Amino acid sequence: MRIAMIGTGYVGLVSGACFSEFGVSVTCVDKDEDKIARLERGEVPIYEPGLDQLVAVNKAAGRLAFTTDLKAALDGADAVFIAVGTPSRRGDGHADLSYVFAAAAEIAETLAQLPANRTVVVTKSTVPVGTGRRVEHILSLHLPAGAYDVASNPEFLREGSAIQDFMRPDRVVIGTDSEHARTVLRALYRPLYLLETPVLFTTIETAELIKYAANAFLAAKITFINQVADLCESVGADVQDVARGIGLDGRIGRKFLHAGPGFGGSCFPKDCAALVRTAEEAGKRLTMVERVLEINDSRKRGMADRIVAACGGDVAGKTIAVLGLTFKPNTDDMRESPSLSILPPLIEAGATIRAFDPEGMAESKKLLPELEYCEDAYDAMIDADALVLLTEWNEFRALDLARIKQLLRRPIIVDLRNIYQPQEMTEAGFIYHSVGRAMAEPPAGLSANLRAIA
Ligand SMILES: NC(=O)c1ccc[n+]([C@@H]2O[C@H](COP(=O)([O-])OP(=O)(O)OC[C@H]3O[C@@H](n4cnc5c(N)ncnc54)[C@H](O)[C@@H]3O)[C@@H](O)[C@H]2O)c1
Repeated sequence: MRIAMIGTGYVGLVSGACFSEFGVSVTCVDKDEDKIARLERGEVPIYEPGLDQLVAVNKAAGRLAFTTDLKAALDGADAVFIAVGTPSRRGDGHADLSYVFAAAAEIAETLAQLPANRTVVVTKSTVPVGTGRRVEHILSLHLPAGAYDVASNPEFLREGSAIQDFMRPDRVVIGTDSEHARTVLRALYRPLYLLETPVLFTTIETAELIKYAANAFLAAKITFINQVADLCESVGADVQDVARGIGLDGRIGRKFLHAGPGFGGSCFPKDCAALVRTAEEAGKRLTMVERVLEINDSRKRGMADRIVAACGGDVAGKTIAVLGLTFKPNTDDMRESPSLSILPPLIEAGATIRAFDPEGMAESKKLLPELEYCEDAYDAMIDADALVLLTEWNEFRALDLARIKQLLRRPIIVDLRNIYQPQEMTEAGFIYHSVGRAMAEPPAGLSANLRAIA
C-alpha cells in the first residue's frame, strides 16, 4: 500500500511514521519547506517521545519519505490523508477550515493531472460535521466520479504518548459511504485488527461528530473535577481521594480526573468552541459545553490570583520561579497552554518570572518573551520569592527539597498539578499550596511575616 500524508505536524508526522512502521509506503507532504528540509536531514521538528527513532528507522528502510511536491506524493497513492491544522477562527470560535479546503483543492487538481488511479481521500484533521461532504464536492469539481472516494478518519492520539496511542488505540473510527474506502482503510489498519482493536464503521457525519463529542466529554470531565477541587478546599476534603473514589467506579473511570489549573492544548479549547458553533448552526445549543469553556477560561485566569495570594497578596518586585510552560508534559506544544493565561497577569502585576521547561522554551520564547529563561529547574529558583509548578514533567516530581529550600528566598510553593504531598512539604519546611487539598499546618519556626502569609 502507498499513502500520502498532507500536513506533517503533530498528527501527520506521527500518523505517517506509524503507518510506515505498519509496512505501508508513506510520503509526508508539507508546505513548510524548512520543516521538510529538516526531516530530510533526519531532524524531527517536534518533541514527541520515541518519534526520532521511529522516523529514522522507517526512513532508512525506504518506507517513509518527505517532500513538498504533492504530485510526486500522490502518484500511485491508494489513499491520501488530510492532516492539516484546523485552528479556531479568530473571533468566532468556528473551526478555520481554510487549510483543509485548500489541501482538498490541491489534491483534486493534482490527481486530475495524474493517470487515473482510484484514490481514497481521508480527512484525519478534526473537522466539523459537513466538512467531509464539502471535501467531496471540491473533488467532484476536478475529478470524474469513480476516480476518488471520501472518508473521515478522526485521530485520537494525545501528544506526549502519540506513538503508543496510534499503535494501540482504544478504537479506530472510519466514516464513509464507500465500500472501496472501507477496504483500503481496513487494509491500512490491518495490524490493529490483529490486536483486536475495535474498528467502528460509520457515516462521514457520525465519524466527524464522534471526535468532537469525545473531546468535549473529556474537557467536561476535567472541568468537573476542577470544580469539585474548589469545593474540597472549602470543606476540607481531598480531591485526589475523591477522584480515586469516584474513578474506581467503572461507569466513571479514573482517567481525566486530575484537578489542575484548567485544560489547554491545541485541541480541547478549539474543539469545544467549534462544537458549540456546530450546534448553534443546527439550532441546538450545547449549553453544557458552553459552560465548560467559560468555567475553564475563568479558572485559568483565577490561577494567577491564587499565586498572588500565596505570595501574600502582592507580587510587585517579587521573583517567581515557574517550572513547566507547555500545556502538558512530554511535548513542546505551547498552544493554549495555561501558562499563557497565568503568567502575563503576574508580569503585569510587577513580578519577574524565572522559568524553565524541558522542551517548551524555544516555542515559549516566541509567545512569552518577557520571561527570564533558565538553564534548569534549580537555576529558576535562585532567590525566588515563590516556586510555581505549572506542568507535571517527570523531572519535577523528585526535586531535591533541601536544595529548593536553600535556593528560594521564601519557602513558598504553589503546586498547580498536585505533584507533591502537603504533609511531606510542610515537614520539609515549605508553605505549600496545591489544588483541592487542605493545606497542612504551616511549618514550625516560620518568621512572623511568613506565618502571616501562610
Ligand atoms: N495535536 C494533537 O494532539 C491532535 C490530536 C488529534 C487530532 N488533531 C487534529 O489534527 C489536525 C492537525 O493538527 P496538528 O496538531 O498536527 O497541526 P500542526 O499545526 O502541527 O500541523 C499542520 C501542518 O499542516 C501543514 N499544512 C497546512 N496546509 C497544508 C497544505 N495545503 N499542504 C501541505 N501541508 C500543509 C502545516 O505547514 C503544518 O506543518 C487538526 O485538525 C487537529 O485538531 C490534533
